[in-house]
Amino acid sequence: MDKLLIEGGTPLAGEIAISGAKNAALPILCACLLTAEPLHLTNVPRLRDIATMLRLIEQMGVAVTHDGANGVVLDSSGLSNPLAPYDMVKTMRASILVLGPLLARHGEARVSLPGGCAIGARPVEQHILGLQAMGASIHVEHGYIQAGAGTGKRGLRGACIVTDMVTVTGTENLMMAAALADGETIIENAAREPEVVDLANCLVSMGAQISGAGTDKIRIRGVERLHGATHRIMADRIETGTYLCAAAASGGSVRLTGTSAAYLDAVVDKLLDAGCDIVAERDAIRLKAPPRLKAVSIRTSPYPAFPTDMQAQFMAINCVAEGSAVIRETIFENRFMHAVELIRLGADIRIDASNAMVTGVERLQGATVMATDLRASASLVIAGLVAQGETLIDRIYHLDRGYEGIEEKLGQLGARVRRIR
Ligand code: EPU
Repeated sequence: MDKLLIEGGTPLAGEIAISGAKNAALPILCACLLTAEPLHLTNVPRLRDIATMLRLIEQMGVAVTHDGANGVVLDSSGLSNPLAPYDMVKTMRASILVLGPLLARHGEARVSLPGGCAIGARPVEQHILGLQAMGASIHVEHGYIQAGAGTGKRGLRGACIVTDMVTVTGTENLMMAAALADGETIIENAAREPEVVDLANCLVSMGAQISGAGTDKIRIRGVERLHGATHRIMADRIETGTYLCAAAASGGSVRLTGTSAAYLDAVVDKLLDAGCDIVAERDAIRLKAPPRLKAVSIRTSPYPAFPTDMQAQFMAINCVAEGSAVIRETIFENRFMHAVELIRLGADIRIDASNAMVTGVERLQGATVMATDLRASASLVIAGLVAQGETLIDRIYHLDRGYEGIEEKLGQLGARVRRIR
């Protein structure tokens, strides 16, 4: 298993390009299942999760053609096997995103029920309840979601759905299913995440009739069929935020291109509070850090509030900031696994249920630590960059799921980072 060796102490400086968003690309790859015509996607990040999703849809009968480094053409005219097997779903929960599109176009689906994961139980009953409200018959058998609906007029029908909680992939699954349902679907309490909007934009360019994406009420008027389209995946706001944090913690100065501050208000505000200078350009962001950050408290909530996917990175920057901060996680019940590893690097963190009290120390010290999930790994990288001496991060396959070329990008910014195979 690959490890990452980081020699800390160098302020990050320079410019890097931000990749396409993993969490936009994953649902958009599944949108190809809704049409028999080719879907051409650009700015698709080269990540492990993307490769897993491509393998999943390929084994269903989708023809996948790579087009340069970050382009892909998906042709699902030969879709024949509407199955998401356990061994794929267990490595990537986002596999559940094939359920809605398969049901809508193919009239049936068999998708392994995802188990729990490192950050929480993460059930999917809202996806199932919403599809049932649209007329699907669904039962769980031998660990698989068996779903059936007819196709065309006898298939899914429009419904009013109010989800019990804000769910990102739940909203995406239902929006994709509703695109081909008979009649109008309204999703209330919908997720407002920018990735939901990017998916809606792609569906609209495929001929879907969707309004309200980006608000908590999305209306979808089902159409008989969708057609092919070309779509560019939006920039990854979490990758952007992660590099901003790395630069901030290291006392550096960076410019991130191919991205925008537009979807990062909550994160940018906290970095300003911490003492950073930030300039939002049209397609780039510049950050200059003070010699030492001030501690900033955060509370995670659905978009547009502070994202849970940036919580671990802010815990890392608070570890070396001046003062104390409280980090409150409200989305996932077990998303503090990085805290115990940060403590191994000398951080002062006390956990009380869903609150973490972090008191900044002058210096962290390098040590061997273990990555437990994607964003936890990112926080360990940030800590390693500012720690004295060498930090060895084990199990970095988590990082490869969500950060394209992380050691190359950090290297471009002057960090001393090496992958050990
Ligand atoms: N929930 C339920 N029942 C459901 C659906 C969700 O109880 O049927 C709960 C979850 O357990 C959680 C909360 O609702 O407590 C929100 O979960 P959500 O469904 O929004 O999460 P998700 O769609 O599974 C996506 C991202 C995550 C990100 C969350 C929250 C993708 C592929 N994944 O997950 O990204 O943390 O939204 O913003 O879009 C990551 O990239 O590292 C990552 C984990």
